Amino acid sequence: MIIQRVVLNSRPGKNGVPVAENFRMEAASLPDKITDGQVQARTLYLSVDPYMRCRMNEDTGSDYLLPWQLSEVADGGGIGVVEESKHANFAKGDIVTSFNWPWQTKVILDGRLLQKLDPQLVDGHLSYFLGAAGITGLTSFLGIKEKGHVTQGANQTMVVSGAAGACGSLAGQIGRLEGCSRVVGICGTDEKCSILVSEMGFDAAINYKKGNVAEQLHELCPAGVDVYFDNVGGDISDAVINQMNQNSHIILCGQISQYNKDVPYPPPLPPAVEEIQKARNITRERFLVLNYMDKHEASILQLCQWIKEGKLKVKETVVKGLENIGGKMLHHFLA
Ligand SMILES: NC(=O)c1ccc[n+]([C@@H]2O[C@H](COP(=O)([O-])OP(=O)(O)OC[C@H]3O[C@@H](n4cnc5c(N)ncnc54)[C@H](OP(=O)(O)O)[C@@H]3O)[C@@H](O)[C@H]2O)c1
Repeated sequence: MIIQRVVLNSRPGKNGVPVAENFRMEAASLPDKITDGQVQARTLYLSVDPYMRCRMNEDTGSDYLLPWQLSEVADGGGIGVVEESKHANFAKGDIVTSFNWPWQTKVILDGRLLQKLDPQLVDGHLSYFLGAAGITGLTSFLGIKEKGHVTQGANQTMVVSGAAGACGSLAGQIGRLEGCSRVVGICGTDEKCSILVSEMGFDAAINYKKGNVAEQLHELCPAGVDVYFDNVGGDISDAVINQMNQNSHIILCGQISQYNKDVPYPPPLPPAVEEIQKARNITRERFLVLNYMDKHEASILQLCQWIKEGKLKVKETVVKGLENIGGKMLHHFLA
């Protein structure tokens, strides 16, 4: 059987900005027959995520992330429909997912690597399983639960960077659902700011590409910042940390502004900012959603319930065509 797949064509270099030519689409063949324990599925959705930038390097800098190999198929979170199964847990027509779904039109996978999904949980909106009802939603929800110290009625102010991104837009809403009384987002366009406030229930949003972030934060967070959901790191985070209260908490979700740079993860704070962090006893512990696998199932149920109730608004970017996946990926790193 001939399929199409996307392989890593070249590496951008540790400090380089990725380009579309870093990926190549090509035809490949899959065996016509599957063996015991295997499942053949047709790919429906693939997730393109910032951490993939690290997988484009020879050394990802993380022990839990393997680098993609040159001329080999890339992979990541994916969903498909089973076409043939020789694994007892799966039957034709089942919707299945894996964290390591190859970027190809059809796949043959070991059934032990797959999880079955219940489309009813998302009212048939399957792509949500790669977003709000998948790792993205879990990251926002568990980040807040595990590292945010958010308490109902405590009158806390939350700031979210990368606020219009997949994790950020959910984090602000979940922060509110969990009890924050004020939620302020930071993102890169006026249009995104406006959507955060008018559709996602943020109290205010700052366009970091316009004006002075520190001044705007000061104005918009008059009681200081109690919880900071940090997706981006760098200058934006330095400005937020400056305005954080005593005994406040950073949810160290990601540091996207640093992913095209050869720096360790998490990148150290500049000395003056680190001094503030220590003097004010601000927690900044590493958070990794995969460390909480035992909480994923129950958390997905909560997220799906909020989505069904209309309490969690979801916006997605869906690009059609496997041939566009490399180009789509670049939007994450060229912002
Ligand atoms: N800890 C975990 O377990 C875990 C799990 C999943 C994801 N993450 C992390 O969560 C973060 C967000 O992921 P996501 O899936 O939500 O990404 P996303 O949907 O791609 O959103 C990220 C947004 O960040 C903004 N951005 C990009 N470069 C930036 C820069 N240099 N400075 C400031 N903002 C920049 C962009 O929007 P604007 O510039 O327009 O605002 C972009 O849309 C990433 O750092 C990712 O690695 C962590």
